[in-house]
Amino acid sequence: MKSNLLSKKVENKLNELIGQELHAMYTYVAAANWCQENGYLRAYDFFLGESADEKLHSEVLQKYMLDMGSCPELDDIDTPEADYECLNCVIEAALEMETALGKMYSKFASDLVAEDFMTLTKIQEFIKIQTEAIGFYGDVCAAGEGLSKDKFQQLMLEKILVKN
Ligand SMILES: [Fe+2]
Repeated sequence: MKSNLLSKKVENKLNELIGQELHAMYTYVAAANWCQENGYLRAYDFFLGESADEKLHSEVLQKYMLDMGSCPELDDIDTPEADYECLNCVIEAALEMETALGKMYSKFASDLVAEDFMTLTKIQEFIKIQTEAIGFYGDVCAAGEGLSKDKFQQLMLEKILVKN
């Protein structure tokens, strides 16, 4: 049996972050479904892709724990809120979620400085992922600022969200 290199505190936090990544996975499925339901068919594909990425993120964290000799504990995933009013709202919610997750990783990283540089190095990958997501959704939000909920205007926003 492998010896466990992680402290209980670090294990708990990693388990929590795995849960957050899986919750993001679930939230993007809900976002994708809302898009399909409301005729934003390209955004549907886009958010399903985002969901797949989040699953991958959770797997990277889980593999890290396993490599360190610790078995991840999978928590319940809360039902995501998906009562969006417009595509703009979906994007704003994504920005909010990614920002909150970025702050969690950042806080965790600063706690790790004094105690666990191996985990800190891993977590830095996630801070990079979060800053890119925050930048991306921030840009799309800025593009959507001032648009009405008019379908045609929202379809223009979809074009900006899904560039190719
Ligand atoms: Fe993620």
